[in-house]
Amino acid sequence: MTEQIPTTESQGTEMQHLRLGVNIDHVATIRNARGGIHPDPLRAAQIAEAAGADGITAHLREDRRHIADHDIKLLAENLSIPLNFEMAATDEMLQIALDHKPHAACLVPEKREERTTEGGLDVAGGHNYLSRFVNEIRGAGIRVSLFVEPSVEQLEASSHIGADIVELHVGPYCDADTEEKRAAEFEKILKAAKAAEELGLECHAGHGLTYDTVEPVAAIPNIVELNIGHFLIGEAIFVGLDASIREMRRRMDIGRAQVKG
Ligand code: PXP
Repeated sequence: MTEQIPTTESQGTEMQHLRLGVNIDHVATIRNARGGIHPDPLRAAQIAEAAGADGITAHLREDRRHIADHDIKLLAENLSIPLNFEMAATDEMLQIALDHKPHAACLVPEKREERTTEGGLDVAGGHNYLSRFVNEIRGAGIRVSLFVEPSVEQLEASSHIGADIVELHVGPYCDADTEEKRAAEFEKILKAAKAAEELGLECHAGHGLTYDTVEPVAAIPNIVELNIGHFLIGEAIFVGLDASIREMRRRMDIGRAQVKG
């Protein structure tokens, strides 16, 4: 894949540090398989921080299938790097965000029967519903991120309702089963990242990233943060969490170094 990376211009600005947010949900998935306290998501977060993570992401799902309420409390109280709280736009989750005041809250669509977050938020179609959450969360001094498909329509709607950040759903790019499909999905991400910056939105990306897919995304200069979980926790089974995060960081740095300063 590496040879297919298009050269991306950084619009004459200093090359920005690309932050890595490590999603620790699946440490809790393993813990919950047996009940009890092992493995501990807070310990994973601390290892991630030591390995070079710039932030920790945790998704408190409505069904509590992995991260639990007490995990959010412990992370909010003990982390020295920013906590990105992933949440559905519900009153229950809003109250939890207001109680713990994470650095950022990322609103995601949530369906109980899905295995993971399956699509982006329909901000364009549901902005009347979402803007109340954006206003209340921002009013508490928490940055608001909206997880959306890489579409200009969704970005314009996100900007319209006052989001600080958009996180681009890069799952279809990561999961593409042909090079043609992957290239087409990548073009959408490239275009959306540029549009996000033009709209004054901070641009993040996530979902499904692996060692093989991360470098081209890291080479997009308008993207300033990647949120990565499942692959890192899976790879940690073989090499350890510290090593899997360091290797991801190394590949992100290789991608980022392709941006012309
Ligand atoms: N960003 C968002 C909004 C997500 O919902 C997820 C999955 O929980 C991720 C990033 C991380 O995706 P993955 O676990 O596939 O790396």
